[in-house]
Amino acid sequence: MSSQRAARAVINVDLPGPVISRHLYGHFAEHLGRCVYGGFWVGEDSDIPNEGGIRLDVVEALRALDVPNLRWPGGCFADEYHWRDGVGPREQRPTMVNTHWGNVEENNHFGTHEFMALCELLGADPYVNGNVGSGTVREMSEWVEYLTRDGDSPMVRLRKANGREEPWRVPFWGIGNEAWGCGGNMRAEYYADLARQYATYCRDHGGNTLYRIAAGARDGDVSWTETLMKAISHLGCKKRPSGYYQGISFHYYTLAGPWENKGSATEFTEDDYYRTMLAARGMDDVIASHSRVMDCYDPEATVGLVCDEWGTWWDVEPGTNPGFLYQQNTLRDALVAGVTFDIFHRHARRLFMANIAQTVNVLQAMILTDGERLIRTPSYHVFEMNKRHQDADSLPIHLTTSGTTRAVGDSELETLSVSASAKDGRMLVSLTNLDASSPVSVTFDLRGGGLEDHRGRILTAPALSTHNTAEAPDAVSPRTFDAFTATANGLTVELPPHSFVTIEGRLLTAGH
Ligand code: AHR
Repeated sequence: MSSQRAARAVINVDLPGPVISRHLYGHFAEHLGRCVYGGFWVGEDSDIPNEGGIRLDVVEALRALDVPNLRWPGGCFADEYHWRDGVGPREQRPTMVNTHWGNVEENNHFGTHEFMALCELLGADPYVNGNVGSGTVREMSEWVEYLTRDGDSPMVRLRKANGREEPWRVPFWGIGNEAWGCGGNMRAEYYADLARQYATYCRDHGGNTLYRIAAGARDGDVSWTETLMKAISHLGCKKRPSGYYQGISFHYYTLAGPWENKGSATEFTEDDYYRTMLAARGMDDVIASHSRVMDCYDPEATVGLVCDEWGTWWDVEPGTNPGFLYQQNTLRDALVAGVTFDIFHRHARRLFMANIAQTVNVLQAMILTDGERLIRTPSYHVFEMNKRHQDADSLPIHLTTSGTTRAVGDSELETLSVSASAKDGRMLVSLTNLDASSPVSVTFDLRGGGLEDHRGRILTAPALSTHNTAEAPDAVSPRTFDAFTATANGLTVELPPHSFVTIEGRLLTAGH
């Protein structure tokens, strides 16, 4: 290999790895700032086209992403949300104060029925996050009954009185959120017992089977994960756990610096950029650490790891409510998404679900709205370009690079990231070049197969800080990419600096 920036990637096309769960492309909608109100929900009387109060432009944009699941109503908000306040005639619903997010009044107009209608419009599985911090076991148990029970029961009668005859299907259920912090400031041992208790009363009604998710660690706090694993492992390490909960979550946010000084979403230096990318790469170690602990108690990976909050977190846009977490989204955010998905794909065996925080108008959003206007962010496009990885077989890659690392503080940042998968006879390769100014040449050796009928797409922009606005909605949007050559069993890609590229083609396996 020459001293130029170059890489060689070997893919055994006929030796696939674990399936990439579609739920790794999950979403998150919290009652926070303008995510729900103004984002998803405008109300039936709005001039903005809506169905039952739900914005149709947002639904249409999100349907193009094949959203597999949507988590709601929080986040921190989940642990002060009382679901009964959000059902029944809207004008009669009590209000409350959203103490976590801006101390604004919540009118409860978007509640259980509205959320389930939104999921139906999106074609997404609902992931309802219950209240442990300030709720009761009875309250959570009755919410599950209200949503999912058929036949006749007190909660079924209430649901029917509120206009819904049939039970809904709710596959995913969260047992509290960030119990170590905003969800009740608990210690792991105390929460683990509560998780068992609450999970016990979240029943499987009729044909509905819940996948219960225990509120997990912050970042790489593996002792929290270990406590939760011990709590469902009666037989000790190396034996299969009997689960009260089927998944354990963790949250990981990408920042360029400390929480007190997160910096602007759009005005940042090249140093800030590289520190961001180093932090994004940190997801790999965090997942690996949690997985190691889980492997010890559950070697067959029957308990799923769930990263139900991830993404970039910057200072709010100047002039906006600090409690609303509204931030712009640049090419930098998109490259964080590209690298993060490669990490997720590599951990497909244990990682079952992930949820970007958050879908509309909050943190690393897919969509920004401004009145009736809607902007697709650069991050949106990564989700769209990558969507064929959902439920595909991962294809492990042996990557050898030369000249593609760079020093960032005391650490070394690998600036090339790649992943690949195969589904329905087609292969998708995703490549991210994090280097701000240098291209890189990547040569793939496809063993046991080749590609034909290929199509390349690229997401890049003149500057790392380029972003989409109402005036320039497509400043960062996918374009056709043809700087690659494909042979019977190879592929060479010339990746421009700061770019995200996908190559998709029909897979030719040996003998075909
Ligand atoms: O996504 C914003 C907040 O970040 C969530 O409410 C909370 O769970 C996390 O700390």
